[in-house]
Amino acid sequence: MTVTPPSASPTADLLARLARLLGPSGILTAEPDIAPYCTDWRSLYHGRAAAILRPAGTAELAEAVALCAGAGVAMVPQGGNTSMVGGATPDDSGRAIVVCLSRMNRVRRIDPLDHTMEVEAGVTLKAAQDAAREAGLMLPLSISSEGSAQIGGVLATNAGGNNTVRYGNARELVLGLEVVLPDGGVFHGLRRLRKDNTGYALRQLFVGSEGTLGFITSAILQLQPQPRAVEAALCAVADAGAALALFAAFRDHDPALIQAFEYMSGAGMDLVTRLVPGTSLPLAEPAPAYVLVELATPRRDAGLRAALEDVLAGMFETGTVSDAVIAESEGQRLALWKLREEHAEAQRRAGASVKNDVSVPVSRVPELIARATAACAALVPGIRPAPFGHIGDGNIHFNLVQPEGMDPAAFLAQDHRIMDTVAAIVRDLDGSFSAEHGVGRLKPYMMPDWRGGAELATMRRIKDAIDPLGLMNPGTLFPSAG
Ligand code: MLT
Ligand code: ZN
Repeated sequence: MTVTPPSASPTADLLARLARLLGPSGILTAEPDIAPYCTDWRSLYHGRAAAILRPAGTAELAEAVALCAGAGVAMVPQGGNTSMVGGATPDDSGRAIVVCLSRMNRVRRIDPLDHTMEVEAGVTLKAAQDAAREAGLMLPLSISSEGSAQIGGVLATNAGGNNTVRYGNARELVLGLEVVLPDGGVFHGLRRLRKDNTGYALRQLFVGSEGTLGFITSAILQLQPQPRAVEAALCAVADAGAALALFAAFRDHDPALIQAFEYMSGAGMDLVTRLVPGTSLPLAEPAPAYVLVELATPRRDAGLRAALEDVLAGMFETGTVSDAVIAESEGQRLALWKLREEHAEAQRRAGASVKNDVSVPVSRVPELIARATAACAALVPGIRPAPFGHIGDGNIHFNLVQPEGMDPAAFLAQDHRIMDTVAAIVRDLDGSFSAEHGVGRLKPYMMPDWRGGAELATMRRIKDAIDPLGLMNPGTLFPSAG
């Protein structure tokens, strides 16, 4: 293993050269301008940075990276700064430079026949979705933070989200990629080919690399036909077991129709409706748990509403579903989604929370929720489990909100104890400690235990080969020693 020396502090000369290269809108050095880039969305990390770079294009970025690399200065790529694991926040040394690609925000082209779009890293996911929709197509990636999250970060973290059950993670949508490497070289891989069997699929190395191997600057994404019909329903169920019985019923009816299948606990829903203005439960009574199911099809006359009603009627008969509401308009559909998408925000408003973004085989989700709920209650009396998430993928956000009235810092001081308790159950169920949020700065300590031996050693060799000076996003993904 290569032991990399600590990065250098940027000198006044380096900052002056960067300023000449990028111009006044391309660099921020005043403390108040830098501050917003040094804290993560969850306020778990408060770092410092010597400067923020905002290049206007790939060539400019490549030159800036070469200058930083030549000076041995660490670089932290940052997109919309929506990481749940502090993956885009600089450390507190003050030596790193944060590089933000938000000025590179053009949708360059959409090809309706190829079903592809070429998009720059700084485009928000929402803007990319909108552009695809305007062209009569669909970018089938959807996450709660899509209004702020940018394509570069979405790809660098292999975002998952609400439609993975049908279309896969971000990784599955990437046909081509352009990347500025840690020495300032450029990997020109913007190919829009469905078949390209020419050695290692390098683009996939950068997807999910969490900014440790280079800067994703633009991508070719695969699009889908826009659905001709979409139906959504919120269903009241007793527990995760009932939610999975409902999932099986929809899959049995026609697996190709399921576009999203999301689970919410009664406790999580209660936080949303109490703490997020503009939300209310559209059912007669609160339930122990809920499913938000969305069906969609590009087929003409597919009888989607009838399919939804048939399956629900069968599930009412067996008692699997006790109540349900079907969206009667686009406004109602969005209101149902708001109840799901505001879960993270509601938990933030409720105080400090510990997030466990875990996955297990789909069949084991009920056991995960039951065991982890009991274990956490025994660990921290009064803790408020609010599990929710992508149950159709076996990905549950087993989030825990602090007990009412407890000091948030005292609660967060126990985060590793809580995370390790949940992780032990997840491991016993053959799962993963990070399903979609990545490792970031929060979870590298778990890597040796979960991905140690040949797996972590191979990752380190790849890192050392591409970033031998260890300048890219230090502190993220890899534990500092071992
Ligand atoms: C979500 O699916 O809404 C998120 O990944 C959020 C979370 O874990 O809090
Ligand atoms: Zn999620």
